[in-house]
This record gives sequence, structure tokens and C-alpha cells, in this order.
Amino acid sequence: MMTPSSAPDSLSPYRDDLSEREKSGQLRRCKLVEPVEAASNIDVQVDGQAAVNFSSNDYLGLSRDKRLQEAAIQAIRRYGTGSAASRLISGTNELVATLEHQLAEFKQAEAAMVFNSGYQANVSILQAILEPGDWVFCDKLNHASLMDGCLLSGARWTRYRHLDLENLEARLKKAPADVKKWVVTDSVFSMDGDYPDLTALVDIADQYGALVMIDEAHATGLYGDKRSSGLCEQFGLSERIALQMGTFSKALGGAGAYVAGSRVLIDTLINKARGFIYSTALPPAVIGTALKAIEVVQSDAEPKRRLWQNVATFERLAREAGLEARLSLPLSSPIIPLLIGDSSETLRISQQLLEAGYFAQGIRPPTVPPGTSRLRIALSAAHSELQIEGLVMALARLSG
Ligand SMILES: Cc1ncc(COP(=O)(O)O)c(C=O)c1O
Repeated sequence: MMTPSSAPDSLSPYRDDLSEREKSGQLRRCKLVEPVEAASNIDVQVDGQAAVNFSSNDYLGLSRDKRLQEAAIQAIRRYGTGSAASRLISGTNELVATLEHQLAEFKQAEAAMVFNSGYQANVSILQAILEPGDWVFCDKLNHASLMDGCLLSGARWTRYRHLDLENLEARLKKAPADVKKWVVTDSVFSMDGDYPDLTALVDIADQYGALVMIDEAHATGLYGDKRSSGLCEQFGLSERIALQMGTFSKALGGAGAYVAGSRVLIDTLINKARGFIYSTALPPAVIGTALKAIEVVQSDAEPKRRLWQNVATFERLAREAGLEARLSLPLSSPIIPLLIGDSSETLRISQQLLEAGYFAQGIRPPTVPPGTSRLRIALSAAHSELQIEGLVMALARLSG
């Protein structure tokens, strides 16, 4: 039976849009990715094709760690599979309270709170801390969730050139002295793998009376000699940054997000962050996993050592294979963009790479600026040297 909403003419704008995307190499589709064995997500089948996975943000391989899995099971046994309502309705159990307490110590902050995802955290935080009349300064390549939060807040939003702190300062100079100002940036950039000089950034922000929010989604667990809590720790800046946000979904092998800062800002978020107020809290298994993950990254240095060794190995082999022109060396993170430029060409190389047995996703606009499509290679502690060598040889053959 034909319903009004399925009449061909009312859906044709959507069909036209999808076919436009297909023509310009922009159409997106989720591939079916299955692990060959449950113990690892490195050897996978991608749409039925056997491949080594270089498309995962599970940088330390913790999603398959028995300690995290056991913590998830214990949390389910004690608290069940669901959390039943938002925390302002059904309350906070001891597992969540412990996690937030541990997170505050991990990030050397007065207080911390948990959000359901990094995307939800960023949108909710920025909407809560900014209002029309405030000014917010963002790196041009900040994650989409930070941009969306700024847009929704109604604050005056200005974007400085990627990592260009002179450009940031020039923009800060133009803002009236008496308005509330925030500088917001990724620490490690998700599609470029680089990061700003955070000390200089915080110095400039201080000079102009701006507060700073840092997104440590791709840095949590990977940087910092003592706690591995991220780049704020590595730069010795934890106490100078108003809000440190990060996720459990990448190196920590789970899901969800956190933000750490002063008590007054965390209380502001509890009262104003709509994603916190109006969404059912994370399930106990996810909280149990996150609690164990922050314990593991602080007590077991081995996965992190292996990851950084793999980053060094990739860099050495890529230089030997003559890939410098397409890469930005030296590497500063396990995220390695191999620049191609054209979207269709990027898809073609990604597909050929898959046929050669290596899964590295092609990244296209709007995730990256037009003309900068790339393969995004993500290294993990769980890769072997042989797998990295095979990838580099295939890249040299296909992209040369
Ligand atoms: C920098 C950055 N912030 C936030 C997010 C969102 O985190 P989540 O995947 O937990 O929603 C991501 C990645 O997805 C990210 O790369």
C-alpha cells in the first residue's frame, strides 16, 4: 500500500542527493567487518575479504583485554544490563561515583563527570558553557562535535588556521575585553594525527582572559609519563586547563566520554548540559570497563610501549620505501594520514589496498576539507612488525 510519505515524488530529493554523492565519490556506506577470531580485531573479514585492520582507534588493543571484559561482566552481574533513566532521575550508583572520582585524579582536576559519547559530550558541554554574546575560538580542523556544539550555543564562533597560534592571537585581540571567551581545540587531531603547542596556546589564552577546553579523545591513554592521561599531562598543563574532555571509546577500548575540570564547571554541566540531563545514563558494563581501563593504562606500560614502537617501525619503513612525500613525518601519533587529494582516487586506492589484504579507510569531505581526501591509517599495539611491513610495501606499490 502506498503511504503519502513513500510516494515517489516526496522521496526524490533524497534519491537525487544520494546519487549526486555517488557521482562525486562522496557516498558513504558501512562495510561489514567481522573479526576472524574473537580474541583480536586485527585479523578481520571486510565484506568477506580477509584483511589486516588499520582502521580502528583501539590503539592499545584494550577492547580485547580480558581484564576489561571481566570488569564488564562483573558490572552486569551487580547492576544489570541497563541504567534505566538519566542520572538526575534514577540516581548515581557507586560504580559511576568511583569512576568520576578516579577520573578527576587521572586528569588532576577537582571534579569529573561522564557522558554517553564523545559527540554527545562536546555538543552538550559547549551548549552549556557558552551563550549568545560569548566568543569561542576554534582550530579550523576541530572535530565535528566541537563545531556543532559551538553552532548550537549561539556564541560568536571564530575559527583560526590549523595549529596557527599567531592567527589565534590575532583573533583574540579583536574580541572585546569584557566578554566571556573560550579557546577550544582537539589535542591530537583525529584525521591528521598532529597536535598544537599546548603550552603556547594556554599562555596566549591566559593573556587574553580566555578559558581553554581541550578534546583528548585521541590522546587519552597514549601520552603522559606518569598516568598516561593525555597531552595535557605530557605538557604539564592539567591544572591550567579549564575543561579536559576525552573518550573511553578509543585507546581505552570501551565507549562513552568524560570531562574534568573545576567543581563549579562540572556543577554547571550537571545543571545545564542537555545531553546529560535528557539521556539515559551509560549501562553498567560500559562504566565497569572504563574504570578498569583507566586502572590498566596507569599500571601496565606494555601496550603503550608496543604502540609507540609500532609508530617508530612504520616511520622507519615508510622512509625506506620513499613515502615521505605523501606523509607528514616525523609522526607524532598513531594516526597517519596518507594524502591522496581526490575523493574517487582515494576510494580506488583504499579498495585496492583492501584487495591486497589491508583495511585502511578512505576519508573524504566533509570529514576533511575538499581536495584533502586521504587514507587514514591507525596503528595499534596489537599489530606485528610483519603486518606493518606488509602495509608499507602495499602503500608504496599502490600510491606511488
Ligand atoms: C576529537 C574527537 N572528539 C570527539 C569524538 C567523538 O567521540 P565518540 O566516538 O565517543 O562519540 C571523536 C571521534 O569520534 C573525535 O575524534
